[in-house]
Amino acid sequence: MSLNGYGHVSGDQTVVNDGKRKKRIAIIGVSSLILVAMVVAVAVGVNHSHNGTEQSNGGANSGEISTSMKAIKAICQPTDYKEACVDSLSSAAGNTTDPKELIKVAFKVAMNKITDAVKQSDVLKELEKDPRASQALDNCNELMDYAVDDLKSSFEQLGEFDLSKLDEILGDLKIWLSAAVTYQETCLDGFENTTGNAGESMKKALKTSGELTRNGLAIVTEIASVLTSLQIPTFNRRLLSEESEIPANGEFPSWVSAGKRRLLAATPATIKPNVVVAKDGSGKYKTIREAIHDIPTKSNQTFVIYIKAGVYEEHVLINKTMTNVMMIGDGPTKTKITGNKNFVDGIPTFHTATVAVVGTGFIAKNIGFENTAGAVKHQAVALRVQSDMSIFYNCKMDAYQDTLYPHTHRQFYRDCTISGTIDFIFGNAAAVFQNCKMVVRKPLENQQCIVTAQGRKDKREPTGFVLQNCTITADPLYYPFRKINLAYLGRPWKEYSRTIIMQSQIDDLIQPEGWLPWMGDFGLNTCFYSEYRNRGPGAALGKRVKWRGIKNITPQHVLDFTAARFIRGDSWIKATGVPYTPGLSAVVFIIVTTYVDHRKDTLANCHSIEPISRDTLLASIAETGKQTELAVRVSTWKQKIEHSLEEQDLRPPFDIREYGGRVLDKLSLEADYGGAMSFAGAKRNMMLLEFSLQFRN
Ligand SMILES: *[C@@H]1O[C@H](CO)[C@@H](O)[C@H](O)[C@H]1NC(C)=O
Ligand SMILES: *[C@@H]1O[C@H](CO)[C@@H](O)[C@H](O)[C@H]1NC(C)=O
Ligand SMILES: *[C@@H]1O[C@H](CO)[C@@H](O)[C@H](O)[C@H]1NC(C)=O
Ligand SMILES: *[C@@H]1O[C@H](CO)[C@@H](O)[C@H](O)[C@H]1NC(C)=O
Ligand SMILES: *[C@@H]1O[C@H](CO)[C@@H](O)[C@H](O)[C@H]1NC(C)=O
Repeated sequence: MSLNGYGHVSGDQTVVNDGKRKKRIAIIGVSSLILVAMVVAVAVGVNHSHNGTEQSNGGANSGEISTSMKAIKAICQPTDYKEACVDSLSSAAGNTTDPKELIKVAFKVAMNKITDAVKQSDVLKELEKDPRASQALDNCNELMDYAVDDLKSSFEQLGEFDLSKLDEILGDLKIWLSAAVTYQETCLDGFENTTGNAGESMKKALKTSGELTRNGLAIVTEIASVLTSLQIPTFNRRLLSEESEIPANGEFPSWVSAGKRRLLAATPATIKPNVVVAKDGSGKYKTIREAIHDIPTKSNQTFVIYIKAGVYEEHVLINKTMTNVMMIGDGPTKTKITGNKNFVDGIPTFHTATVAVVGTGFIAKNIGFENTAGAVKHQAVALRVQSDMSIFYNCKMDAYQDTLYPHTHRQFYRDCTISGTIDFIFGNAAAVFQNCKMVVRKPLENQQCIVTAQGRKDKREPTGFVLQNCTITADPLYYPFRKINLAYLGRPWKEYSRTIIMQSQIDDLIQPEGWLPWMGDFGLNTCFYSEYRNRGPGAALGKRVKWRGIKNITPQHVLDFTAARFIRGDSWIKATGVPYTPGLSAVVFIIVTTYVDHRKDTLANCHSIEPISRDTLLASIAETGKQTELAVRVSTWKQKIEHSLEEQDLRPPFDIREYGGRVLDKLSLEADYGGAMSFAGAKRNMMLLEFSLQFRN
């Protein structure tokens, strides 16, 4: 998606917005069908008048056939597998020329092909002798079920929809189609090292459905990019200008139940969960497995399970009918769910997870997830997550190889600690990790450690891992071995593997090369790895590998990987009350430290500084405001700061050090988008302050 759509909010934003609102209302009036048709037409270059002429020239029938073939060809134009696209549509779409119908048919054919593949896997299963292959076939059945679900959601989404939400809808479609691609891929991954030809047969059975799913993703991506380039006012802007204001007013979207909000703000002592699990018998159940039977089916109300302190040795599956479940514990080291399933003992990686979460809208707070199989047992997942719009807050995930598996969909991790050895965060979700700690543990003697192995398969998938203000560090037991068992930031599990590490602390365990190849030159040109303004001895970029996939990212481009944009966090994270940074975060942090620490000596000598420092502060804040995308929000906190400045004046002598720290703390707390200001801007503000202080001295 182009960045232009977000643009910069100018000073006369209100005026602009008013005009936009009118325009938007007008556009909403247009039938969605026409718009989608129009967009597709622009996207793929269907020339309506040309078609019209042809239709009247030819006989009614042949005209229709060629028109619908034209529409099909146009729809299929942006896809990678054109032949599969045209073939499937021309045999299944009748003679419709409506692009929306054609897209729906494309999804439907993909679904049918997957269903065929499932039948195929049942046949193969009958004949299968290798137990690993047999399990892989079982997995495929489950995974195909998920894939069909996501395609079905995509199909249904294209019914009647609110045009003003078109950008969200296209975002959802991309996420779901990407998940459908991933599930098919995971099915095939399961056959690695199996004997017999079940793997090859499944590969053949899934060939067409895989191509058609990726075609669907290509078509949707094309529409989204055309919409962006048309600069339709409803598109893109809305997210920042409206949605972000909802929580600011203290009103939450109706779908956020009171329970969810209350819980995230409260402590276990003050909550009323739907069910309490306690090992010591003081709750309704002693195990989590029993408690999850109480979860209502497909509920849109948050169902809260309070798991009291204790070590729960069980395997938990929050399946797809269990939506909006929240688990809250007594702390990530106190409430622990633990297991030890693993690959070496014959279980496919996909099914080794101690806890697996599928149902949409899952939240976990204060819980530890663990797989204790140990390094010798190879792949052994502590937590697998498919839940769309899921949140993990103050949690801990501990294992060795493949600890955390953010498999599909949108996920948000905040204040979590994740430990492991090889590929210990792996999968193909769109996942943002904020303020998390990635702890490398001691592996087996001959092993290397890799923090991430992101698995993006198609270049259009909106997935990837974003680490923001995280710390990548060594476990004390590993530390002495860091020069023997080398550690890397990541490696490309699939061709388009994508990982962005920004504003984070990278300790000296990470090798100067930074990234590790998967196998030969696989993915080195097509992956997308970027490091943006990291700090620490492991963050130096000078000796990094020089693959084409290692990207230098601009301050503008990096915004695409902030939580507000990358996973549309404003619309589902913000309202839950979980601490959340929608934009960049560390800039404010840098100002605070520089301001308070670096300037200590000079500042300590300043007594009668108040008039200038106050004006300077205000000036720098105003300057910041100008640079910040969300001018409206900036002005709110600016007012607050001005107000407290006035109060401050009543209590001389004015301690600028203390005060500067406080103001900037406020900034970081209240100006959610404050982080979006450019580093250059922040630096200029610092110089302004410095200059005035020197002048004063
Ligand atoms: C083609 O369109 C005509 C009318 O537009 C309709 O009656 C006919 O059933 C359609 N054919 C197919 C195969 O869908
Ligand atoms: C498959 O076998 C090869 C060779 O024995 C091994 O290196 C590899 O790790 C195995 N793959 C898995 C997933 O265990
Ligand atoms: C919850 O689901 C029901 C039934 O599907 C629906 O009627 C209702 O509007 C939903 N409530 C919210 C707040 O979304
Ligand atoms: C989800 O789990 C519940 C409880 O174990 C079960 O009744 C239900 O059938 C499961 N749903 C699916 C789709 O597996
Ligand atoms: C960055 O993370 C650290 C450690 O989790 C935290 O103390 C700090 O407040 C974070 N900074 C910002 C700007 O969020």
